[in-house]
Amino acid sequence: MGELDASVPSIARVYDYFLGGKDNFASDRALADRMIEIAPLVPVITRENRQFLSRAVTWAANQGIGQFIDLGCGMPTAPDTLDSARAIIEGARVAYVDNDPVVLSHLGARVAKGVPGVTVVAGDVRDVPAIVGSVRAGIDLSSPVCLIMGYLLHFFTADAARDLVARYTAAVPRGSVVVLSAIRVDTEGSDEGFAGYSTTVAPVYNHSVAEFTSFFGSLEVLPPGVVDARQWHVWTAAGHLPPRDQYAIVGVARV
Ligand SMILES: C[S@@+](CC[C@H](N)C(=O)[O-])C[C@H]1O[C@@H](n2cnc3c(N)ncnc32)[C@H](O)[C@@H]1O
Repeated sequence: MGELDASVPSIARVYDYFLGGKDNFASDRALADRMIEIAPLVPVITRENRQFLSRAVTWAANQGIGQFIDLGCGMPTAPDTLDSARAIIEGARVAYVDNDPVVLSHLGARVAKGVPGVTVVAGDVRDVPAIVGSVRAGIDLSSPVCLIMGYLLHFFTADAARDLVARYTAAVPRGSVVVLSAIRVDTEGSDEGFAGYSTTVAPVYNHSVAEFTSFFGSLEVLPPGVVDARQWHVWTAAGHLPPRDQYAIVGVARV
């Protein structure tokens, strides 16, 4: 896990800036602004992603699932996984996993305030056995869970993303659900933007719709399928909005 270095942008702090948060430094803002020049809707679709995650958690809790594993959880911007889950199930339990020191310090503060049922795991999501082992401290893996990988898989090649989803899915019981989202940008010049973000922070992949769909493997993707976040379980005219060339691509499947 990296130490906090304000001169080097971090994924979590760039994301925090997109969401209008205050936990970011000049280096993060400079990189985020370069991304916005290439794909102006990135802050908008990032908020749409967050709203989707909240709807997906609410939906899972309404299905009776009271345990959530949030891989690459990011800053606990309200409403975060715990807020959304507990709005439906009072005793819902959440395991947050991230490797960013700023994210971990925020989450640690939440646990230090004595919130029962919250487990914070510091680690690299690629180390699946270690992460699953630590998650067990707060999550009963013999009962269904909601596994969340929000805006995470664009940091992995398609092969690595498929492998990661398959390995985590194998660790959770039948009846669990898997929530995935990623950034999808079709604008001219977006590849350069992604490359800039990539070289400075981490590799970023602009996965195609087919690639994203393949991350679910043989899982049953639930209606409405793989869609723009604006179209997932919305009860307004948003479901009929015209397609855009920049969006959060999302889907939810049952194990
Ligand atoms: C773009 S943010 C998404 C936050 C949140 N899931 C959401 O969708 O709103 C990605 C998060 O994943 C974390 N992350 C990226 N690669 C990771 C890795 N290999 N292991 C653990 N966390 C990682 C980053 O630190 C960051 O907090």
